[in-house]
Amino acid sequence: MTTTETIIEVRGLGKSFGSLVAVDDVSFTIRRGEILGIAGPNGAGKTTLFNLITRNPFGPDRGEVVFDGHRIDRLKPHRIMRLGLARTFQKETSFAKLTVEQNIRLGGVYGAGLRGAALQAAIEATLEMLELAPLRNELAGSLPVFQTKHLMIASAMVARPRLLLLDEPASGLNSIEQADLQRLILRLRDSGTSILLIEHILPLLFGVSERVMVMDFGKKLTEGPPSEIARDPQVIEAYLGGKAMENLHAT
Ligand SMILES: Nc1ncnc2c1ncn2[C@@H]1O[C@H](COP(=O)(O)OP(=O)(O)O)[C@@H](O)[C@H]1O
Ligand SMILES: [Mg+2]
Repeated sequence: MTTTETIIEVRGLGKSFGSLVAVDDVSFTIRRGEILGIAGPNGAGKTTLFNLITRNPFGPDRGEVVFDGHRIDRLKPHRIMRLGLARTFQKETSFAKLTVEQNIRLGGVYGAGLRGAALQAAIEATLEMLELAPLRNELAGSLPVFQTKHLMIASAMVARPRLLLLDEPASGLNSIEQADLQRLILRLRDSGTSILLIEHILPLLFGVSERVMVMDFGKKLTEGPPSEIARDPQVIEAYLGGKAMENLHAT
């Protein structure tokens, strides 16, 4: 059931690639102002789930998504974005030959249809929030990985999304940068954006999420508060069984 307390409800979402069921009957809801974490070994279907919700670059074979009262599972990706749902990508992406500010501007124009004074005000607020103001005239391609990740988040946040999907934002960051990112994610949430966060760095994931959902082999294994998830035998098996052990230590 969708209520005004619910920002998104996903019901029975599924996607197959040939005989591989990459996302298998996944359902969950996120409350307004909540951070829902997603954990799971490589290949569990986490990124595919983001693709299906945003239809960027492809939508689901099965299931429904209700975002802020709208059925979005058959809408075009840009329509979904305009309703206030933004994502970042696992591999940092930016327009390398444009400046930081120009990259953020594109996010405001295409993500939210902003222009003129409203666009500039959103850009300024985003540069401040993501601590990119001193770098506004730098070429995106010249930034270190930490700032590149901030820029990707800025390009999504400039549209003032009500829900932000973050795909492994901490990968490749050192522990000081991870702690910074943890604070940033909480700031984004406090600014009024609900967050769905995929993250391999479990201390970060457990540190920011109200609830964590664990996926394995395309399925939702379980969901609960971080303290319960960390002790769940199924979760320990998914992570500690076989090759999944590597994921705990991946940086
Ligand atoms: N476009 C695609 N075509 C074929 N198989 C895909 C495609 N995208 C993902 N997969 C497969 O779906 C499964 C889930 O992948 P993914 O969602 O990227 O996992 P995760 O993000 O949890 O590591 C993997 O087996 C992957 O190889
Ligand atoms: Mg992934």
